[in-house]
Amino acid sequence: MSLFITFEGPEGSGKTTQIRLLAELLDAEGLAVTTTREPGGTRIGNAVRALLLDPAHTEMSPRSESLLFQAARAQLVDEVIRPALAAGNVVLCDRYADSTLAYQGYGHGQELAPLRQLGAYATGGLLPDLTVYLDIDVQAGLERKRAGAAEEWNRMENKALAFHERVREGYHRLAADEPARWLVVDAVQPVAAIHAAVAARVGALLRATAGKQ
Ligand code: TYD
Repeated sequence: MSLFITFEGPEGSGKTTQIRLLAELLDAEGLAVTTTREPGGTRIGNAVRALLLDPAHTEMSPRSESLLFQAARAQLVDEVIRPALAAGNVVLCDRYADSTLAYQGYGHGQELAPLRQLGAYATGGLLPDLTVYLDIDVQAGLERKRAGAAEEWNRMENKALAFHERVREGYHRLAADEPARWLVVDAVQPVAAIHAAVAARVGALLRATAGKQ
């Protein structure tokens, strides 16, 4: 059954773990699942990812940054997401167009309207059926991330705390603007409790979608 679910959150919110748990659950239920991530998920996207996240690229301008994220996204949509949905898969994507609104829009203070237009162009208008937002205090999330593998630390995480606070606030606004699409979960809860909340919502969505087909 084709369903498109994206995961969003500030640094260290535990998206990777929750995507893995949901993928395992859906797989056990016999559904075909495609898991992917942004930026990356394709050969071209991974090359763009390396450009974007290299800590040495301190001179990257915010507009250039926005366009590179959108370029990686366009490739992922065309090469992976649309074909998987067409094949009837459930697609789980770690970050999507909302990340650009939160990070480049709210974080860097770039105008939202052109970013939304570029996002619509990059995705060909493909919107998620559900966006799971894992909410965590910025400082706590960055500490979690720092405690992880050193090579995972990237240029975005090097930005000031105030930047990450704006990103989190941006997510809250995006979720409030479209409550039907967003599931907001407190990411400080135990992993199992977060998974239960996500699984309940996805289960309801699957039943609703099955009812329509
Ligand atoms: P990644 O290592 O994948 O981090 P995470 O596990 O938090 O997803 O790095 C992706 C970084 O890029 C992360 O800091 C968020 C940022 N980002 C943007 O600024 N804009 C975007 O459009 C996307 C997709 C990611």
